[in-house]
Amino acid sequence: MKTRGYQVILLVLCAHFISVTALEEEISDSAFDNFLELIPSLRKERSGSVSARFSLRKPSDPDDDVCYIVTGDPESLKECDFNTTSKTFLVIHGWTVSGLFEGWVGRLVAALYEREPSANVIVVDWLSTAQNHYIVAAHNTKMVGQNIANFINWMEKTTHLSLDHLHLIGYSLGAHVAGFAGNHVSNKIGRITGLDPAGPDFEGAHAHQRLSPDDAHFVDVLHTFNRGSLGLSIGTQQPVGHVDFYPNGGSFQPGCNLRGALEKIAKFGIFAINDAVKCEHERSVHLFIDSLLHKQEASQAYFCGSPDMFERGACLSCRKSRCSTMGYDVGGARQARSATMFTKTRASMPFRVYHYQLKIHFSSNLNCSGVEPTLTVSLHGANGDAKDLHLNINEKIAGNNTHSFLLVTEKDIGELLMIKLKWENRSKWTTSFMLKMVSSWWPGDSTLGSDMEVHKIRVKAGETQKRMVFCLKNPETPGVSQELSFVKCKESWKFHSKRRGLRRQ
Ligand SMILES: *[C@@H]1O[C@H](CO)[C@@H](O)[C@H](O)[C@H]1NC(C)=O
Ligand SMILES: *[C@@H]1O[C@H](CO)[C@@H](O)[C@H](O)[C@H]1NC(C)=O
Ligand SMILES: *[C@@H]1O[C@H](CO)[C@@H](O)[C@H](O)[C@H]1NC(C)=O
Ligand SMILES: *[C@@H]1O[C@H](CO)[C@@H](O)[C@H](O)[C@H]1NC(C)=O
Repeated sequence: MKTRGYQVILLVLCAHFISVTALEEEISDSAFDNFLELIPSLRKERSGSVSARFSLRKPSDPDDDVCYIVTGDPESLKECDFNTTSKTFLVIHGWTVSGLFEGWVGRLVAALYEREPSANVIVVDWLSTAQNHYIVAAHNTKMVGQNIANFINWMEKTTHLSLDHLHLIGYSLGAHVAGFAGNHVSNKIGRITGLDPAGPDFEGAHAHQRLSPDDAHFVDVLHTFNRGSLGLSIGTQQPVGHVDFYPNGGSFQPGCNLRGALEKIAKFGIFAINDAVKCEHERSVHLFIDSLLHKQEASQAYFCGSPDMFERGACLSCRKSRCSTMGYDVGGARQARSATMFTKTRASMPFRVYHYQLKIHFSSNLNCSGVEPTLTVSLHGANGDAKDLHLNINEKIAGNNTHSFLLVTEKDIGELLMIKLKWENRSKWTTSFMLKMVSSWWPGDSTLGSDMEVHKIRVKAGETQKRMVFCLKNPETPGVSQELSFVKCKESWKFHSKRRGLRRQ
């Protein structure tokens, strides 16, 4: 039930992407239905033997397989220079059309070695099985997982390595492979990271049939492409770890061609993996690589009950482990089960952004039914500016109400010194409101070109957890101005009593 509510919210959130939404309907009507029909017939087809190979890659040669560790062959450990005292990573790829490793594998290996130079980074090669039709490959993930579990059990017995030092990183189908490995291994694995775990055939499945928090002492998951219909999407929508991160809501990623991805899916089905689809899905891997390479600039994510609340900036709290670094250095919320964390990102590496909550109180003498102006904000900080940031208005702005917004900046602007708020009219406005607005131009006492006034803006910075109040710079400015400047005022941050419930969530 919880999951369903979450999906509904996601769809509502995205409702304003009208053309894209229409496309999704097409998808649900055609491709997904066909896909579902395919399942029973394909289930019968099985590939015979399932075997995985374990290639210990070298820091100097992250792209190539030069040495395989063979289960049951202790000599192979020596030949590959396996270091029994350091951390061991198993990188597990997903479904493949080409039957070749994708480019990210070498990049992830290199990033792991950059962060943990003495580690053993083992690439699990199950390409021959992963190359089958998706449904066959998905069905075989359990056997591949068992295969890996046998390998891990043997390694533990032979080298006495501590499973606490073992970290499985699985992408797409590989995330579920990691889950099955964790489920079948004799002792518990330290950590599994699921990078956009595959959705089809796994969404809504019982915890033993997919990656779940039972599979390791700690399971962290990044969701980057969970748009879809009928519960079917490329990546899982439901939380499947102890901590589940939904960068940019998990639904689509900046810099990717979402439209292209959805068109492709609508036309050729959910497994028509083209560059646009890959961009969204594979973003999970690059976010993780980013967290390895840019430790000091790791993205911060915040616990939030729903993406909608996060979009309103209501969840930028770090109290009681409510915020955490995303990716390799994840912390904080480790005890919690299925904590859902949200963050925004840039379109490219380093992905980190800086989050701000703006609470703006709009006051008005007139009773208007509410307006939806275009509001843009510029933040001026000690280290730079972030100009023309759009405020997402989810509900109409009516008199005497406080609205909360989420704003992000791509760079660290340092201490916030001034905020400029621009109010622009929209063609959508009703005639009656336009008339009201025009009439309110003349008295000269309005500040926003309408009867609306803003005197204060309360700001909370997510990354620094600082709270500030900004007051209108020149409250006496005569005439009408569409751009207002706000500077820090003496008063400390206070919560509007009506909004208290919102923050507590
Ligand atoms: C094995 O790893 C440890 C750190 O975990 C390091 O101190 C040691 O030098 C490594 N041994 C070899 C042979 O590289
Ligand atoms: C605004 O509307 C409410 C009821 O909707 C009414 O009670 C109030 O008197 C109105 N105020 C003004 C200033 O028109
Ligand atoms: C908003 O509050 C002000 C002062 O508290 C009051 O004069 C005004 O009528 C209120 N406006 C509405 C629409 O209720
Ligand atoms: C709306 O904006 C345009 C240009 O920004 C301006 O010319 C026009 O007068 C505005 N209309 C009203 C009613 O404020």
